[in-house]
Amino acid sequence: MATRVGSELNTCIMGLAWGDEGKGKITDLLCPAFDFVVRYNGGANAGHTVCVGDRRFALHLLPSGILHQHVTSVIGPGVVVDPTALLGEIDALAESGIRAAENLKISDRAHLVLPYHKIEDTLSETAADPSGRIGTTARGIGPCYADKMRRTSAVRFADVLSGDGWSDRLRRIVVGKKAMLTAMYGEDGGLDADSIVADLGRAIERLADHVTDTTALLGDAIGAGRRILFEGANGMLLDVDHGTYPFVTSSSTGAHGVAAGAGVPRTAVSHVLGVTKAYATRVGSGPFVAELVDETGDLIRERGHEYGTTTGRPRRCGWFDAVATRYGVRLAGVTDIVLAHLDTLSSFDRVGICVGYDCDGEILDTPPADAARLERAKPVLEFMPGWSEDLRGVRRFEELPATVLAYIDRVEQLVEAPVSIVGVGPERTETLLRGRWRSILETTASATANES
Ligand code: IMP
Repeated sequence: MATRVGSELNTCIMGLAWGDEGKGKITDLLCPAFDFVVRYNGGANAGHTVCVGDRRFALHLLPSGILHQHVTSVIGPGVVVDPTALLGEIDALAESGIRAAENLKISDRAHLVLPYHKIEDTLSETAADPSGRIGTTARGIGPCYADKMRRTSAVRFADVLSGDGWSDRLRRIVVGKKAMLTAMYGEDGGLDADSIVADLGRAIERLADHVTDTTALLGDAIGAGRRILFEGANGMLLDVDHGTYPFVTSSSTGAHGVAAGAGVPRTAVSHVLGVTKAYATRVGSGPFVAELVDETGDLIRERGHEYGTTTGRPRRCGWFDAVATRYGVRLAGVTDIVLAHLDTLSSFDRVGICVGYDCDGEILDTPPADAARLERAKPVLEFMPGWSEDLRGVRRFEELPATVLAYIDRVEQLVEAPVSIVGVGPERTETLLRGRWRSILETTASATANES
């Protein structure tokens, strides 16, 4: 029997930094070429902004393909799902006239984020020494993944839908959680088992039609050569194994997380699109070597509207970090780079790129594992001429100003992957493509036009 590899277009789109790279917009742009969009990691900590005309949608749990009728949107087994948050998103889209839920499939193997996870997330952050705070999104992500690994206190969709004694088991879990919270933080979080059970029962009733064996669904889709886009949440530097640990999230954020998190064979991914901004941002605590704690950083934040989609927190800003980006490119086998937000850098006399880390006098070209060492590292910066042109009107890659093209060339050299897509503004139309991704989308657009 031949190995089932599926469509050669199957792609993973993932962030190469600390999240917020603009993955949602690119996913949305690529949707015409795909039949499925699959989330494989994270939960409501992600914040994907998708703009359609003058309407902006902030998605947290829903895959970014949700606005496209022909796409089946899948929440895979590796995602931790807060049912209340998910229903809130579905309802918000419905209010805008978008029937998001029609093509939504949720894995029956996915784990549930419950109220005590969110309470524990907040209490553990508040109780921690300020220097040890992770700065989480308080969405209960870490505590839910911890329960998943612990197994005995975890709850999945399948458990609730099986109908057998789930409510008694959940009540017992809540009793245990109250005792744990009291012992660790001196309060039980005001948890009430009856209302948690009742709320979950109501939420699952509304979601039940969407819950299915997505592993079988995607297995069939791969066999039939359907085209699948795997949508990563958060970013490579927040990866639980490979990020700036412990200042990371609790899942495998890169392409290496697809097989386990989506429930597909490792051969299912042909291309890996690594999304990064033309500068760097980070929310929450943790090392950030290229950070600019000055007027330039403030200017990037204001021009790039760098405030969190999920929490509204101002993002820390810095120059493009070629060391961290190359690390992610190599680790995830990135085949193409998406360089977003080039327009935000317009009007700087010169633009910086971090090309090395000065760690206690030693120049490193890859990030060290030790967060304290990384925290002490100073950026080795290289500067290139800036540009003053407003890029938002540019519609073809080759029409970009020469200074911008030179900057892109240098990024490609440093990160060892081709830049195939660039962002010059927030709208779908403000994205320029070249090489194979331009032909893929042009071919899809003409096929769609011929069909209609
Ligand atoms: P958690 O995922 O809520 O546990 O947060 C852990 C760290 O990851 C914190 O620094 C968060 O700010 C960060 N984080 C998690 N998801 C995202 C994201 O989608 N964008 C940016 N930062 C994120």
